[in-house]
Amino acid sequence: MTAPTVRPPIAMLAELTHRCPLSCPYCSNPVELARVDSELSTETWTDVFRQAADLGVLQLHLSGGEPASRRDLETLVAAAREAGLYTNLITSGIGLTERRLGALDAAGLDHVQLSLQGTDSAMADEIGGYRGGFDRKMQVVKWIGAVGFPLTLNAVLHRRNLHQLPRAIEMAVEMGARRIEVATVQFHGWALRNRDALMPTEAQAREADRIVAEARARLKGTLVIDYVPADYHSDYPKRCMGGWGTTGLNVTPDGKVLPCHAAESIPHLRFDTVAERPLADIWYRGAAFEAYRGTDWMQEPCRSCERKTVDFGGCRCQAMALVGDAAATDPVCVKSPHHGALQARAAGHASAEDAALTYREAPLRSVEPAE
Ligand code: SF4
Ligand code: FES
Repeated sequence: MTAPTVRPPIAMLAELTHRCPLSCPYCSNPVELARVDSELSTETWTDVFRQAADLGVLQLHLSGGEPASRRDLETLVAAAREAGLYTNLITSGIGLTERRLGALDAAGLDHVQLSLQGTDSAMADEIGGYRGGFDRKMQVVKWIGAVGFPLTLNAVLHRRNLHQLPRAIEMAVEMGARRIEVATVQFHGWALRNRDALMPTEAQAREADRIVAEARARLKGTLVIDYVPADYHSDYPKRCMGGWGTTGLNVTPDGKVLPCHAAESIPHLRFDTVAERPLADIWYRGAAFEAYRGTDWMQEPCRSCERKTVDFGGCRCQAMALVGDAAATDPVCVKSPHHGALQARAAGHASAEDAALTYREAPLRSVEPAE
């Protein structure tokens, strides 16, 4: 067996904080949130950005929680730019002001990715668990437009709001966004607790496929539509993270370096931190990165499947959550012995009536006050 050739990562997701004013029931942050006093300092992040650029990272995604909760966000953007990284701010918009957006522009921010919880205040404020959030976001969109930041809209969709997909696409065009990510909820972290409330029906999943295909044809040249379909209703799994340890890495608020945002849900993995080891050493030789890199770790049916370098067996975290074995075939795959049971469970979750939302617990709700 030959060891896979490891190339440098293209992208790094820096989870600057788990603090967030919203409490979305599908939050992808871990169920155990990092405490405020354990967050990396400005100096440490600056060093991590330099190390990332030296390692070959091109794109830096500044995320959270809500990254605007960090008072030093502008300093961090400037440091990333100084290191030569392309910077993308992934935000709900809450906590951003006109003045702060101007400062981020001056610091060299390249791009903004704004989340959309719904296309009207009733839906968006209910899902985000934050009254007034939608109106605030619409104000922030105007300021983003005034600065001229390239904008991507990130519409997170599930059974409660999938009927709003056509309007979400329209809104992206009206806002002048260059791209919309139509992201059907992936069931990790908090979303696993909300499958009864959020699981799309099969009919909704097929209708979303149709709407995206039609909009892609109609809006070619105007709006790029990235689409993450409802995978419980698919026949083949997604190539999660572009393949484990191939394309990107995540750094948590307290400095753990993860192969994907949900990797901490795999209990036997141990994660190096930026305090203990250089980033390049973690990427090329860290045990968590080597665990599922390439194809040697695979079991049947993946091991002898012709698609094994297409999807790399799907999502390790989903295999862990649903089958209890992170090296198993993602049960979304038709070849998995668990596929039929998964589809039956999906239908059961999708037909659950009156399921209440379980919001992300928010011990860290505080955001820095808007100036
Ligand atoms: Fe992908 Fe494994 Fe399914 Fe083949 S068996 S399609 S490699 S998940
Ligand atoms: Fe971890 Fe897919 S979210 S591998």
